[in-house]
Amino acid sequence: MRATIIAGNWKLNCTLDEAERLARGVMDAALDAPHRQVVLFPPFTALERVGKVARLGPANLFVGGQDLYWAENGAYTGEVSAAQLVDCGCRHVLVGHSERRHLFGETDEATGKKVTAAVEAGLVAVVCVGETLAERQAGQTKAVVERQLTAALGSCKPERRAQIVIAYEPVWAIGTGETATKEQAQEVHAAIRAWMAGHCDADTANRVPILYGGSVNATNAAELLATRDVDGVLVGGASLDAATFARIITAGRLG
Ligand code: PGA
Repeated sequence: MRATIIAGNWKLNCTLDEAERLARGVMDAALDAPHRQVVLFPPFTALERVGKVARLGPANLFVGGQDLYWAENGAYTGEVSAAQLVDCGCRHVLVGHSERRHLFGETDEATGKKVTAAVEAGLVAVVCVGETLAERQAGQTKAVVERQLTAALGSCKPERRAQIVIAYEPVWAIGTGETATKEQAQEVHAAIRAWMAGHCDADTANRVPILYGGSVNATNAAELLATRDVDGVLVGGASLDAATFARIITAGRLG
């Protein structure tokens, strides 16, 4: 049985008080879905505050960083290390979110170094992959996702594979209100699992949680979560309202 993960990416939003309120506002829903993992990704500034809420809250509520840098310390102005995230109470970290790739020029090579640094520090790396609209229209979806997986996971040691989560987030669906259909999501998720079987091992392929992200909301979450190879959702905009995100946490059949 794979874990179901409901993750909220708050991006560049929330003051400390707003972040704490939002985290407290989803605690009841997390309690109502004890077999699901709820992971909140606040901005760096709110990690410690939300980390404290998570520590005192339900056991299935976790906090993670939205990004990290691979060096342990040094002259890297503006960057944050894996150990610093752990220090703030993080269990997870996003790597290679499409906004990092497309707005800030993050390369495939950088995602590989970040994944290695994250898992070596004991974090769960939530590796984001996904194609642009032009790439989908050119029939390159599978090739793009496989290239991103190769770069991100190529140097991950076999004993660290249990610390990997994949998030398939088609760039054309992020923040656009346009969600992939469950068939589109299933097709890519199955391809990701097949890639994992071929490049890692069958056990990893069966166990790796693969999340869908891109305009997930309280209305479409249940259907996506019921899709065979969709093991959870990574939610942006709809995670910023506690009541809405609570409905996503408890959407569909709670197993
Ligand atoms: P969205 O963002 O739900 O607002 O489309 C998803 C994400 O960027 O992770």
